[in-house]
Amino acid sequence: MPLHGMFTAVPPTYDLVNRVITLGMDRRWRGLTARACLENSPRRVLDVGCGTGDLTIALARLAGEGTEIVGIDYSLPMLERARQKAAKNGVVGRVRFVQGEATALPYPDVSLDCVGISFAFRNLTYRNPLGGPHLAEVARVLRDGGRYVVVESSQPLNPVIRALFHFYLRAFVRPVGTVLAGNPSAYRYLSESAARFYPPREVREMLLGSGFRRVGYRPLFFGAAGIHVATK
Ligand SMILES: C[S@@+](CC[C@H](N)C(=O)[O-])C[C@H]1O[C@@H](n2cnc3c(N)ncnc32)[C@H](O)[C@@H]1O
Repeated sequence: MPLHGMFTAVPPTYDLVNRVITLGMDRRWRGLTARACLENSPRRVLDVGCGTGDLTIALARLAGEGTEIVGIDYSLPMLERARQKAAKNGVVGRVRFVQGEATALPYPDVSLDCVGISFAFRNLTYRNPLGGPHLAEVARVLRDGGRYVVVESSQPLNPVIRALFHFYLRAFVRPVGTVLAGNPSAYRYLSESAARFYPPREVREMLLGSGFRRVGYRPLFFGAAGIHVATK
C-alpha cells in the first residue's frame, strides 16, 4: 500500500493499538520528547506528522503560555481526530492543527526554534525518497541553535535483545495491529520497516549530513526506541 494510503483512514482503535504495541510506554516516551522539545524554552514548536496529536497535546500541557504549538500532517482524518482530542484534553486554545506536507513546511527560513517528530521519522526516511527533502526542509525552517527532536523505533545494540525485539515485532505487533485495527498491510509495513530501520549511529550520520552540527541520543526500553536531538 502506498504510504499516504495508510493514513487516509484512522481506525477507531488507532490510539489503542499504539498503546498496546508499545506496552503502554508510548505516552511516557512522547512526554520525554515534549520535554526535550521545550528544553530551550522555544517560542515556536512544530510537531511534524502529528497524526492524532499526542505529541502536540503533550507539548501544550507542558509549555508556557508564550509558546506557539502547531501540529502538521497531510492526513485530514488524522487532523480531525487530533482536534477532537485537543478539545477533550482542554488545550484547544493552545494548539493549532494544519494540513501540510513534511517536505514543504509553511514557514519562512530560520523561523522556528524546535521541530518535533514522533513515530513519523521512520515513515519519512526509511526507503522513502522524501527523507532527504524532509530533512533539508527542517534544517531550512530552524534557526541556528534550533532543535529537531525525533522519537522513533530504533535497533537495540545488544544482539540478543535485538533478536527478541524483532521476534516481538513479528509475533506480537503485526498480529495485534492487524486484529485490533483491521489493517494487515499497515501493520506488516510497521513491523517490517521497524525491524530493518537504521540503528542510532546511521540516524546520527543522516542528521549530521543534513545540516545539523550536533546529535544526541537517548535509548528507550533497551534501545527498542530512542530520542535523537539534532541541533542546527
Ligand atoms: C505513524 S503516524 C505517527 C503519528 C503521531 N506523530 C504519533 O506519535 O502517533 C505517522 C504520521 O505521519 C504522517 N505523515 C507521513 N508522511 C507525511 C508527509 N510526507 N507529510 C505530512 N505528514 C506525513 C501520517 O499522515 C501520520 O499521521
